[in-house]
Amino acid sequence: MTTLPRVSSDILWHHASVTRHRRELLNGHRGTILWFTGFSGAGKSTLAHAVEEVLHQSGYRTFVLDGDNVRHGLCNDLGFSPENRIENIRRVGEVAKLFMEAGIIVLTAFISPFRVERERVRNLVEQGDFIEIYCDSPIEICESRDVKGLYKKARAGQIAEFTGISSPYEAPENPELTVNTSTTDLNTSVQQVINELKSKGIIKND
Ligand code: ADX
Repeated sequence: MTTLPRVSSDILWHHASVTRHRRELLNGHRGTILWFTGFSGAGKSTLAHAVEEVLHQSGYRTFVLDGDNVRHGLCNDLGFSPENRIENIRRVGEVAKLFMEAGIIVLTAFISPFRVERERVRNLVEQGDFIEIYCDSPIEICESRDVKGLYKKARAGQIAEFTGISSPYEAPENPELTVNTSTTDLNTSVQQVINELKSKGIIKND
């Protein structure tokens, strides 16, 4: 897991004739990555799905990549060690890039605790294609809500390397948007994301 194979010089890039630009013209909007990051229980998935609902109803092509779901399939061989989280985010970043090149607004909801790994994904794509949205909720609030009962288990020593308890989380230093998910209601949070997309010209301003 630590040393990834380099791309062989025998593998050449095949250029598609149907380009990202042509797909975006067909869709009527740009593809983009909306990268939601924050503690477990900070509301990343809830917010991402609620934003997706609004976009979908307005005719935008969308897809949510959700941490818990992706770990049931593509990443079901990975745990929560730092190495495994790095690999999780690497794969998700590459998949998000493919979706974006398909002209889709892809919303990712992963703790993605390491700043360097999030920056790595940002650097995979062109400037402006990666919008980092920090779901800022204090760990105490996430723990007190404990929607999935995992914080209780982590405190009881039944889950190792739990983010915020026994594994670090590095908050974004310069995200495109911070949503204070513990103090802002869902509709307002959705509106903040929508406004950000409008201000960046990703969705129409009507
Ligand atoms: S990440 O750190 O690699 O980005 P990811 O978002 O995929 O994590 O998965 C986090 C989800 O897995 C949490 O919302 C929680 O439901 C569950 N989970 C299980 N074990 C852990 C753990 N040790 N640390 C954090 N989340 C965990």
